[in-house]
Formats: sequence, structure tokens, C-alpha cells
Amino acid sequence: MTLWGGRFIDKSDKLFKKFNTSLSFDYILAEEDITASISWSKILLKSNIINKKEQIKIEHALIELLQEIKNNSKNILLSNCEDIHSWVEEKLIDKIGELGKKLHTGRSRNDQITTDLKLWCKKIIHILLNNIIKLQKRLIILAESNKHVIMPGYTHLQRAQPITFSYWCLAYIEMLTRDFSRLEDVLKRLNTSPLGSGALSGTAWKIDREVLALSLGFNSATNNALDSVSDRDYVIELLSSASISMMHLSRLSEDIIFFNSGEANFIELSDAITSGSSLMPQKKNPDALELIRAKCGRVYGSLVSILVVLKSLPLSYNKDLQEDKEGLFDSIKTWNDCLCMTILVLKNIKIKYDICRQAAEEGYSNATELADYLVKKGLTFREAHHISGQIVLHAIKVQKPLHALKLSTFHIYSNLIENDIYQNITLESCLEKRISKGGVAPHQVDKEIIKVKKRLYVF
Ligand code: ARG
Repeated sequence: MTLWGGRFIDKSDKLFKKFNTSLSFDYILAEEDITASISWSKILLKSNIINKKEQIKIEHALIELLQEIKNNSKNILLSNCEDIHSWVEEKLIDKIGELGKKLHTGRSRNDQITTDLKLWCKKIIHILLNNIIKLQKRLIILAESNKHVIMPGYTHLQRAQPITFSYWCLAYIEMLTRDFSRLEDVLKRLNTSPLGSGALSGTAWKIDREVLALSLGFNSATNNALDSVSDRDYVIELLSSASISMMHLSRLSEDIIFFNSGEANFIELSDAITSGSSLMPQKKNPDALELIRAKCGRVYGSLVSILVVLKSLPLSYNKDLQEDKEGLFDSIKTWNDCLCMTILVLKNIKIKYDICRQAAEEGYSNATELADYLVKKGLTFREAHHISGQIVLHAIKVQKPLHALKLSTFHIYSNLIENDIYQNITLESCLEKRISKGGVAPHQVDKEIIKVKKRLYVF
């Protein structure tokens, strides 16, 4: 039986029925739908719409149903119900007969679906927050064990100034900290219960929506039913958090792909997370990272899609809103998989200390130090920059790093340069000087690591 049988004479067209159904994807909300239904039955009892015996019977049947689907939720897909709400109702009626038909009193699928979806988002946000922390913990382990690894830092993909591998790890920890706090923000705003909003203008039954909200773990009930049934801001916020975080993961992946390339050769990825070529026996490809880099696209796609679905959508509920789910479910799974995969990749990298250091030495990444040295000797920075540039040009011509140039060569460009230049342009000296907050100096990095660890190990 359809949910609206009375008003209709003819049967739905098969094609329409198939087009209209959402069970194939909203079945994953079964647990939430049952949880919300149990709370709803309790509020119906409180409001004397059903009696105690009836409520207990409904609750027991729903708990039983929950157990059944916990074992195999895919069974739901065998049904030809329109959506998860009608499926739960149908199964309830199968179990307890006519009484099951009382549960929908005062409720609409419009407030049900957004309640279910909010409950699902809350559950999933906690999993995501946990995995962000796990990834940060993995990065901090890498940071701690690679403080001594000096490598070139890049701008424009050109060797710019020396950094350490630890420092690189800390940069991604920062991004993930912002991802974490963005998710916490989403959680804060979505934590209100739409249940009891009815179809669009509230429920005509005397129902304490605040008690209902608290029983479902929400902070409070929503304020306006018209808004509540059509609000999907939380989906947009969650997808935009997912998009930003996926962008971070894609950048991390790209960095590692580059570090792993034959050209950079700074790290080696283990066999566990790479694949070979069917044709070229020498290949070991960073597939996991390339996939993370690419999967960012589908998450952006879902964000754009839901933004467009909601644009100009008139109040209040419209079936358009059914399109909120597939993109969200897919993107959240993708994001979570990518967080887990990034953790695995970072467990499986070996850093080649010597090659990293050599690359830092070769790229004239200490040219800024030379300019700063000349400033200390009294030149303006512009003059110092110009002279350093000339010296770098010379060094490139003779194919030598700066520290291999003789003092007499430095003198061609400036007599201010003395023997102490050599200790000033070592890689270590480049690092140590950047002592101000956020700088690469080992002392700063140590302080940051301690700070981050304190925060992470609270969880
Ligand atoms: N499957 C629907 C959705 O996802 C549930 C709500 C249906 N409401 C309605 N008035 N047709 O949005």
C-alpha cells in the first residue's frame, strides 16, 4: 500500500515509481529512522495519544527491527517501499498489526527525513573528527622522528629556502586543525531537532518538542517549522568542510607524489601502498595518493550540486530535497576513506635523509642568507638582494653551491663578505635563524610539537 492511497484512484506508473523512490540510498538511515521513531512513540505516550502498553509494544517491535537490520541492512533493498520511512512503518505494521499505524500520528516524512539526516550527520562527524585526530597523530610521529631531515622548501615548485621534514608535517597538522574546528562548528549549528515540525507548520498535537529533542541527543528543538523541514544548511556546511579538507588531503598527496618522484627522490613508498605497471617492470606507482588527489573532485561536485539544488528553492519542503543524500553519503565516505588512506600512506614512507639534504644544498636555497648577511654588514636589502643574485648567477655558471665558492670569488661582487660567510650560509644556520613564531628553527619546531601533542593526546 502506498502512503497516500486514499486520494488516488489509479496506480503509479512503474517508471515514475522507480524515479521517485529513495530507498536505494536512504536505507542507510534505517538506524536513525528507528531511533527517532522510538522517541516519537514515547512523546506520543506523554501526550496521551497512545497508552503505555501500546508504546511498549511499538518500542519492542522497533528494537527488534533494529536488531534485524544491524545484521543485514542490505535486506531493506529487497523491498519496494518508496523510502526508509515507509519501510520502517511497513515492517512495524507487519510485526504488530493495526497498532503500527498509530505511530505516524502528528508526524510527517518531511520532519522525519531531516531529523534522520541530522542524526546521521552527527554520528558521522564524530567518526570524522576521530580520524582527523588519528591523522594528526600520525603526522606528529613523523614530525618527531624527522626533525633532523633538512630538505628544500618550495615556492613556484622551485627550491626556495631550507626547511625540515618535521616542519612540513606541522604545516599539514595546522590545516587539519582548521578542518577539525570547521567540523565542530557544523556540529554546533546542526544540533537542533526538526522533529515535531510536521509537514511544514508544526504539529497539531500537544507535543513537547524540547523534551523530544533532548531525548534524541539534540541541544534543543528548531524554532520555525517552515524553515526546519526545508533547511539543508547543515548538508552544505558539511560538504564544504569535506571539500576544504579534501583539498588539504589532495595537496598533501601531491607533495608526497612529488617527493616520491624519480626527479625529487626524497622518499620511498612501501610496496604495501603502491602498485606496479602491467607493462613497465621498473614502475612503482603512488596510486593511493593519486586517487586521493582525484577524489577531491567528486566531493567538490557534491557541494556544487547541493548548492544548486537549494538555490531559489521555494519554502518549504520540495522533493528536490531528496537530492541532498546521494552526494552527501558518497562524499562523506570518500572523505573518511581518504583520511584513513592518508594515515596508511604516512605509515609506509621512508625518508631519504641524504638526498633531501643534498637537494637543499643544491638549489641555492641559502641565497636569502647571503643577502641577509650583507644587510648585517650595512647594505640595504635591495642592494644586498642584487649582489646575492649576481653571486648565485656566477655559482650557477660554475656549477657550484654557494658554500663552495672561494672568498676571492665573493669579493668580485662585494668586499663586505668575510670568512664568516661560510658559517652563515650553512643549512643549519638558515634554519636556526628563523626563530620567530611559526618559523622553521628547530627550537620553534620543538615547541610546536609539544603544543600539538598536548592537544592531540587529550583525545
Ligand atoms: N524521500 C524523501 C526525501 O528524501 C522523504 C520525504 C518525503 N516527503 C514528501 N513530502 N514526499 O526527501
